This record gives sequence, structure tokens and C-alpha cells, in this order.
Amino acid sequence: MANVVGIRSYDYVEFYVGSAKTVAYWFAKALGMNISAYKGPETSHRERCSYLLESQNLKIVVTGALQPQSSEINSFLSLHGDGIKRWSVVVDHVEKAFDYAVKNGAVPIVRPTKLEDNDGVVYHSAIKLYDDTELVFINRDEYKGVFMPGFGPALQKIELSSEDTALKGIDHIVGNVRTNQMDQMADYFNKALDFETFIDFGPGAISTQYSALLSKVVRAKDNVVKNPINEPYKGKFKSQIEEFIEQYHGTGVQHIAIETSDICKTISSLRKNGVEFLEIPDTYYDLMRQKNPDIKENIDDLQRLGILMDFEGEGYLLQLFTKPIFDRPTFFFEFIQRNGKSEGFGEGNFQALFESIELDQEKRGNLV
Ligand code: FE2
Repeated sequence: MANVVGIRSYDYVEFYVGSAKTVAYWFAKALGMNISAYKGPETSHRERCSYLLESQNLKIVVTGALQPQSSEINSFLSLHGDGIKRWSVVVDHVEKAFDYAVKNGAVPIVRPTKLEDNDGVVYHSAIKLYDDTELVFINRDEYKGVFMPGFGPALQKIELSSEDTALKGIDHIVGNVRTNQMDQMADYFNKALDFETFIDFGPGAISTQYSALLSKVVRAKDNVVKNPINEPYKGKFKSQIEEFIEQYHGTGVQHIAIETSDICKTISSLRKNGVEFLEIPDTYYDLMRQKNPDIKENIDDLQRLGILMDFEGEGYLLQLFTKPIFDRPTFFFEFIQRNGKSEGFGEGNFQALFESIELDQEKRGNLV
């Protein structure tokens, strides 16, 4: 069933960061992405600079402030630290998507706007999601240039020493909200974007002996985009979601899952490039060997690379999570490969995963 908002797919995500140039370098060198466009003083924008990084369908923009009066970026950074300001979806018609969303309860942020240069026209608009996070509707059917007006070609070409990391695009984007806000946020998505609640992890479904959380997954009815929403739940100690809310000073995007066509290749390259992942205990793989699952990959390889596996229905997924990538214990990445008909989120791994997160939380003094 087509979604009535006309969403085709995820498009770019934009981070606000302390130094766009340095973070762009990390994305290029550590994740093996290409810097393909740039916006800044050289393209007549004096208050901010942005770098576009790409790998197949994955588009990441990193933006930093150049002037103290770049208040939107500076106030975001002083409150949240580096993090996701906006994520976007390509829609058939920007004005129709925006009107539908606002009529159905979305808070408008950017009214439908036409951006134009010699290469054509890009339409965009935005609605509010989390505290300081926006969802952008974008259409560039009539645009032939690099990304969107304001951006020019990359100024410098970074020679990548890393191999191809096989990153394909976004699989899902996850938000964290405060206690008692998850249902409200799921309703907001479902009404404004005509989404549906696809999975509901209630009390007790996701917990360790120390901490717990609740989660609902909302998605477009044709499954082109899917968005889990987490909230803290009472446990013996502080929920990892509560730690996020405290350290981020608000609600926002917790992680983005990037789909890969070859997760062993991806994780092997990323480890060589110095990316840090959550550590998975050997007992996890001993248990997997006992289950003797029907998978193409070799469990020894998965153990060496620390990759998790989960089985559901007629398919299975392989996944792994980075440690938080910025200074604060907030945003992280997931890498995921879906084999066969796999639609879940690694439910079978929650236990191993959260125990690993708790070890790090304890080191930070935040598991109290
Ligand atoms: Fe995920």
C-alpha cells in the first residue's frame, strides 16, 4: 500500500557539530564515505559551513558555525553537544506532504520553500519531531546540481586509505524520549505521517537485571521508512535512555542504522579504521554454536568481528553497534545486514547488547 504522504525513501541526515571539517574527515576516513559537496564562505555562505558525505544512497551532512551569531547552531551545540539536527525523506510533492502533516497535528518549522540556482529547483519544508530535531520533506526531481542550491563541489579531495566499506543507505532512525512520552510521539508520527505502530515492546520486554526501556516502532505503511521510539522504564538502576536524555539535555536521535551489503567486509574495514564497537562476550557465540543456525556466514568470522545475529520468520539479520561517536554518551551508529525476509530490529540481541552498554555506563559513573 502506497503511503498517502508520498514518502519515497530516507534522504540526508544533518549533524550540527563543533568543527564540520574535522568531523567530515572522520566520516571520510573512518566510515569510508566520499566528501562530495561543500557549502561555506567559498560558496557565499559566511555563517556556517557544511560538508556532504556520500556512500551509495547514504547522505550525511555535517554543519558547523563560523560566527558567534550563528545562533541556531551554537545554541544547539551548547545544549546537546554534537548531534542530529534534522533527518529527511524524499517525497513526491513537498507542499502536499507538509499540508497533510500539519493538518494532522505536525508542528510546522519550515513552510514549503523553493531553492533555486542555475542547476534547477529543490523544494523543501520541515516539521518538528523531538525537542530540537526536525523532519525535512525534500524533492529534487527538477535539480541537476550537486545536492542542493548553496552547495558546490568539494574543495579538497581526501585520498581514502580505507577499503570500500559497502555502506548502502539508512535502514532505520531511532529517537529517545522522556518517560511517558513514547505513546504521544508514536501517535504524532502515526497521525502526521499516516504511519502505523509495527512493534510494541512493553514493560519487561527489554530489560536486564539492572535497567529497562520501552520501545515502539512506527513505520510508513509501505515500510519505506521505519522509526523506533524509546523511553526509559523503571529498573534497579538508571536506564540507558535516561542517561541519553540527561547527557543530551533533551530528546533526540539516539542512533541511525546503516544498511550494508556485506557486514563482514564493513565491520572488518571499520575496525581497521579505528571505529570502536560495543564488546560482545564470547558466551554469546558459544550459545549461537549450540543453536547451530542456518546462516551463510561462518560463526568464527562473526565472533572475530563481534557481529550479532538474530533470527525471525524466514530471514535473519546481522548487526553491530558502535560506541557513542562524539564526546557525550549520546549518538551512536548501528550497522545492519538483512538476509531473506527480515523485518525486525535484533530483539534476540537486546539482552547481550544492553549488558554491554551497562558496562560502559558503569565506567562513566552513570549506572546508579
Ligand atoms: Fe536499531
